[in-house]
Amino acid sequence: MTVEEFKKKFGIVSKSKEIRDLIDITMQVAGSDISILIYGESGVGKEVFARAIHGYSNRAGKQMVSVNCGAIPEGILESELFGHKKGSFTGALESRKGYFEIADGGTLFLDEIAEMPLTTQVKLLRAIENKEFMKIGAETVTNVDVRIIAATNKDLQREVEAKRFREDLYFRLKAVTLNIPPLRKRKIDIDELANHFVQAYAADNKIETPVLTSEACDLLKSYNWPGNVRELKNVVESAIALNRNGILDVSAFAHLLKTESAEVENRNLPVYLKKSPEELDRELMYRALFEIKKDLIELKDLIYRQNIDSNIKDNGSINYEVLPLDQLEKQAIKNALEQTKGNKRNAARLLNISERTLYRKIKEYDL
Ligand SMILES: Nc1ncnc2c1ncn2[C@@H]1O[C@H](COP(=O)(O)OP(=O)(O)OP(=O)(O)O)[C@@H](O)[C@H]1O
Ligand SMILES: [Mg+2]
Repeated sequence: MTVEEFKKKFGIVSKSKEIRDLIDITMQVAGSDISILIYGESGVGKEVFARAIHGYSNRAGKQMVSVNCGAIPEGILESELFGHKKGSFTGALESRKGYFEIADGGTLFLDEIAEMPLTTQVKLLRAIENKEFMKIGAETVTNVDVRIIAATNKDLQREVEAKRFREDLYFRLKAVTLNIPPLRKRKIDIDELANHFVQAYAADNKIETPVLTSEACDLLKSYNWPGNVRELKNVVESAIALNRNGILDVSAFAHLLKTESAEVENRNLPVYLKKSPEELDRELMYRALFEIKKDLIELKDLIYRQNIDSNIKDNGSINYEVLPLDQLEKQAIKNALEQTKGNKRNAARLLNISERTLYRKIKEYDL
């Protein structure tokens, strides 16, 4: 199979050398059983590559099971992965197969691997090395033949140094590492991706394909895409949905690229030239934090003023309504879930808590 055929088969749209090099490596290693670690920011295409590895391997006829280690509560992740015997713990009313067993013969994709608790990491390493594990409560081993692909957007080396990730598992996983660069570091891909998403959306919705002007393309290229390819897809789809005149020009996108305009407004912040990429990244992060802080202050102000407005009694004195913190928290979670139409990952991001914490709180508040 040629690289072009590979891209077509697995829906990878790109022009950049970076992605081409990754595809070369993927095609070389897909056929073996070696574990693969995929690095990359949110929305860069980690799952796309995981599916391509599986689909290009001789395991393609079997299942690829995806597990988001960050979304499953710590206490049950181990039994979800390895399964359990009936009666092995309170609530284990039936024996249950774990994802390892379900993926037998195929591939197990462990997303957000950095969120896996240390005790589960020990068991995972043993399962990879010995191709066998013990179900919770079992006295005999279960044999499996599973290929592991792990993904993360965290720096695992740093997690190892902080003793949050086991070094032995890290070494085992990192033998083959695919590092998918963020979209802002391969802007040459933006053109083709944007046009691809325009065509796909038009086809899915049975409308005529709108024309993306070259000025609009330039605007998309000048944006820094913190949400990477996923954000680009969303922005293109929103632009089409909001502009039904068949033309996607600069005005169709301007208001959809929010951070960019915020950055333009902040030109007065010092810009240091001749900085290393790491320093520039850090600087961008500081700017983003600066923005968030500004927004927070404005938001607090607004809420404060609204509260006062609605609580001024007839005699002019202020009635401060004090809500218990847990009620505030419950309401914030409800709002976030409503706003994200129930998407827990996005809701957790809005709330600035981990997905696992969100799952726990949903349960706690019975939402
Ligand atoms: N090179 C690409 N060509 C076409 N579509 C892509 C490409 N990369 C990513 N996408 C699309 O972008 C979206 C996000 O990709 P994906 O889910 O693989 O990202 P991810 O890195 O797993 O994100 P997260 O960290 O949030 O889980 C998907 O809709 C995917 O189809
Ligand atoms: Mg993913």
